[in-house]
Amino acid sequence: MAGVTDYTFRRLIKRRGGVGLVVSEFISVEGLTRNNPKSKRQMRFDEDERPFAVQIFGGRPERMAMGAEMAEEVGADILDVNCGCPAPKVVKNGGGSGLLREPQLLETILKEIKKSISIPLTLKLRIGYSDSSINVVEIAKMAEQCGVEHIQVHGRTREQGYKGLADWDWIRRVKESVRVPVSGNGDITTLEYGLRKWRESGVDGILIGRGAMQNPWIFRQFADLIAGSEPYQPDIAEKKAVLLEFFAMCREEMPELIALGKMKQLAGQFTKGLVGGAQFRQTLYHSQSADEILDNIQTYFETLGRRATFGDGVVEADADADLTFETCEAPAAIGATQRV
Ligand SMILES: Cc1cc2nc3c(=O)[nH]c(=O)nc-3n(C[C@H](O)[C@H](O)[C@H](O)COP(=O)(O)O)c2cc1C
Repeated sequence: MAGVTDYTFRRLIKRRGGVGLVVSEFISVEGLTRNNPKSKRQMRFDEDERPFAVQIFGGRPERMAMGAEMAEEVGADILDVNCGCPAPKVVKNGGGSGLLREPQLLETILKEIKKSISIPLTLKLRIGYSDSSINVVEIAKMAEQCGVEHIQVHGRTREQGYKGLADWDWIRRVKESVRVPVSGNGDITTLEYGLRKWRESGVDGILIGRGAMQNPWIFRQFADLIAGSEPYQPDIAEKKAVLLEFFAMCREEMPELIALGKMKQLAGQFTKGLVGGAQFRQTLYHSQSADEILDNIQTYFETLGRRATFGDGVVEADADADLTFETCEAPAAIGATQRV
């Protein structure tokens, strides 16, 4: 996820366990092949993150092939092509979900990439450009012919953006139409919903985006369930520790202001489902310094701990637990004004 699954966030998630694969933010091949420092930084990863996939986007075959080669050179295990991003800026330049309208160009891109790399090539798709032009099955079949080894389908059209629910029936149809493994994606925030969609669609894997921000343990919980054990339940102290760990990692990696923004971004999802989460979220949004953030975390968890011990407080979780991100563009400025 652009603006989210950077080096810091991926390690936070990976340390919670149960994660099969982490993917970089989508990286512009135009930036990458012009040595844009941001694009190059986005390819950075730790050995602990393996298997690690680099996702690239763009609309020009030769640039895509060059970008893919660069990802292989830095040691990525998998090269993933973004054919799903709905952001106008990306689509206008022929990349992301714009490629769903140009299957021949996509075919050329995939073939060119295939010639340039030896690591596996995978493809992330939406189900179509618009509701009247759903073509994910045809695209998936074509991609398989080009040597794509894994297809991930987010069950929405580009036109849909992030509205409504992902249509897992289209995901099932893709699974039934190709021989390569298919993973499904869209709206998995609970074990119950995830298991149901997994079984109904017959897919080989599940991709979780926003749900990982709400619940970084979700992968471990799925792994537990699959292994036949009780899903792991972090206690209050561990939830606090995760927030502190994330903030400490951010402060190590980036300037203070950016670290504050990152913390607010994670808190936007993480606090959903916590008792008194809406109020806690507000206090974090309005924090202006690292000390204020740390104080607010301390106070919130102290109160929560007291309530848990003495049973003297609100017990219902934050009901506003919907998924609210609307684009896959990286937030222009992550800060107090960012929409989360
Ligand atoms: C903030 C944000 C950034 C995203 N960036 C990317 C991206 O860079 N590449 C990609 O394939 N999908 C991206 N997506 C889409 C997600 O990977 C995923 O397909 C979508 O959010 C639905 O899954 P979910 O309901 O589990 O979040 C992004 C989504 C969000 C909310």
